[in-house]
Amino acid sequence: MSENESGLAGVDAKTPNAARIYNYFLGGKDNFAVDRAAAETVLSMAPEVRVAAMENREFLVRAVKYLVAEAGVSQFVDIGAGIPAERPVHEVAQAIDPGSRVAYVDNDSVVLTHSRALLGGRPGTAVVAGDARDPDAILSAPELNVLIDLDRPVAVILIAILHFVPDSDDPAGLVRRLLDRLPSGSHVVITHLSDGGVPDDPRIAQTRALYNGGLFFRSRKEIEGLFDGFEQVEPGVVGVGQWRRNLGADDATSWWLGGVARKP
Ligand SMILES: C[S@@+](CC[C@H](N)C(=O)[O-])C[C@H]1O[C@@H](n2cnc3c(N)ncnc32)[C@H](O)[C@@H]1O
Repeated sequence: MSENESGLAGVDAKTPNAARIYNYFLGGKDNFAVDRAAAETVLSMAPEVRVAAMENREFLVRAVKYLVAEAGVSQFVDIGAGIPAERPVHEVAQAIDPGSRVAYVDNDSVVLTHSRALLGGRPGTAVVAGDARDPDAILSAPELNVLIDLDRPVAVILIAILHFVPDSDDPAGLVRRLLDRLPSGSHVVITHLSDGGVPDDPRIAQTRALYNGGLFFRSRKEIEGLFDGFEQVEPGVVGVGQWRRNLGADDATSWWLGGVARKP
């Protein structure tokens, strides 16, 4: 996508954007030169990030399959859903249970425009403008409530988003507030950038600078704390490449940790 081709009102093609950088990592075309430059800077420091981003999506696919096929959950609220990628949540879920419903939520106008263009009108889906820092507004949104029955179990998906939320906005508290509104049997799916146990790795500071400081690598303990109060689905919080794949530790990326948990 070139700046002139974008044709999207209000879209800033001159500042790197998290959703578009991620789209580039995943091999997508919905990004500008400034996003590609930022992404390439990250890749020059840590080439494994591209594979890690793909493993993150694969984790999402395995988690959704688990939720529909094994946990019996067929309603999803995907927060920080990003620019639609291959095998979006509704396709994976509806392949198992055609009645599955997915509300895609994001706070970025680029994402919302792409999502409405690509997903608009797909049965069982809605695109909802919402901010993870305001869980009540998300769950009260009329477009979400016509699709999702909040009296039945819901899986809240928070893939690669909570590392954009600073401690001052209490990410663990946001997870609890989301699940507070949902019945027993609801689930939360989280992946999060980890500091790999080396918080002073210079690549972390360099990557954060590309995101103007608005990116927060957290420790394993902090990421595990996001699931406090919920029942962890086996195997717990692990490298996203490992989750329910029975791989050895060497196959796990240290950049992303993830897990799935159930509200008792
Ligand atoms: C790295 S992308 C992840 C996309 C998607 N979850 C995936 O795994 O493919 C992060 C997404 O989170 C969104 N985001 C960041 N902060 C947010 C917030 N406070 N509320 C809602 N969305 C947010 C960004 O706009 C972006 O689309």
